[in-house]
Amino acid sequence: MDSQPLLMFPKWSNKLALGLLLLLATGPVYVGLLLAYGANPTTLNVGYAPTQPVPYSHALHVGKLGMDCRYCHNTVEKSGMAALPSTETCMNCHAAIWANSPKLALVRESYKSGMPIPWVKVHDIADYVYFNHSAHVNVGVGCAECHGRVDQMEVVQTVKPLNMGWCLDCHRNPEASLRPKDQVTNMQWVPPSDQAALGKQLKDKYHANTNTDCVTCHR
Ligand code: HEC
Ligand code: HEC
Ligand code: HEC
Ligand code: HEC
Ligand code: HEC
Repeated sequence: MDSQPLLMFPKWSNKLALGLLLLLATGPVYVGLLLAYGANPTTLNVGYAPTQPVPYSHALHVGKLGMDCRYCHNTVEKSGMAALPSTETCMNCHAAIWANSPKLALVRESYKSGMPIPWVKVHDIADYVYFNHSAHVNVGVGCAECHGRVDQMEVVQTVKPLNMGWCLDCHRNPEASLRPKDQVTNMQWVPPSDQAALGKQLKDKYHANTNTDCVTCHR
């Protein structure tokens, strides 16, 4: 028997409901309501920090050892997905370092069996929303704008609501959040006092084009 609760709707119904709502959203009144709904604080989910199968620490590997995000999340500039590292990436070091640590037992097992480590997803926006990492990273939106100080996290947690209101806040005023591209993974970067001017200049330079049309994110 299926263990899903009876009241749960199948996944496609989400998309159908959205489609219907978009159809209904022909007048500004509906759009206003939807925007208000998207910005509703009850949709917040900040602080979600699931326990992972291996006690991997960003605070240690990034904060202390100084590793760059792209060593592990190596598709983040090229594709929509940031991608999690393969077990081989861990074994580049852990074949020799802490080679017998019990905390790494599952990593060694995965390396032997070829079965990936079952990491638990932390950030997960609904399937009817289109998101793309490379589009953001390549115009100078830093990881920290959306993920916070990952270099200080023992366990990754969400620091932003990831709802529509949050996306739109930045899309309406991206100047406040742009930095030089070569600083996107720098966790210590702080905006200068003339961020407004810098943001404006970078927006032109990178041809950043933020859109609040529904089809930008619902396609
Ligand atoms: C040594 C490899 C490594 C490095 C370097 C690294 N990460 Fe990770 N990252 C992981 C692994 C493994 C996971 C999955 C386990 C977890 O969530 O802790 C992960 C998970 C994440 C997640 C959560 C993914 C989800 O499921 O939503 C975010 C966000 C993230 N990393 C951001 C960063 C940022 C930003 C940096 C650079 C400041 C960085 N990582 C550097 C290995 C790495
Ligand atoms: C560039 C080298 C490097 C890579 C790649 C790397 N680590 Fe590490 N890791 C280290 C070092 C060095 C330590 C020990 C630091 C210390 O004890 O001060 C460590 C410690 C650990 C520990 C703690 C072990 C213990 O017994 O205390 C875990 C767990 C761990 N790493 C998991 C991972 C995982 C999972 C990956 C792949 C996503 C990974 N590491 C990739 C260098 C690396
Ligand atoms: C504009 C906001 C934003 C920026 C900038 C951003 N992320 Fe993300 N990240 C997200 C969202 C939203 C998700 C969830 C995506 C989903 O559920 O489809 C996510 C998910 C992830 C994941 C989980 C795997 C995935 O692709 O779903 C990792 C790992 C990650 N981000 C790492 C990074 C790193 C590293 C950087 C910087 C190089 C970065 N992110 C920059 C918003 C952002
Ligand atoms: C901190 C600022 C910021 C946040 C937060 C943000 N964005 Fe963006 N987004 C941008 C900028 C800047 C661009 C312009 C990129 C360009 O011109 O290529 C953009 C572009 C996009 C695009 C167009 C990319 C393409 O390939 O056409 C999509 C889709 C998008 N964002 C979705 C989202 C979603 C969904 C969220 C929330 C989960 C989000 N964004 C949150 C700054 C942000
Ligand atoms: C910048 C990206 C972005 C744009 C532009 C955008 N949305 Fe959304 N939308 C989202 C995100 C993110 C969610 C929430 C997904 C989640 O909760 O996982 C969402 C959710 C929704 C929902 C589901 C209800 C809810 O709030 O959870 C509806 C309906 C919706 N959007 C309609 C619209 C309409 C109509 C427009 C145009 C006026 C629009 N969206 C423009 C990103 C966007």
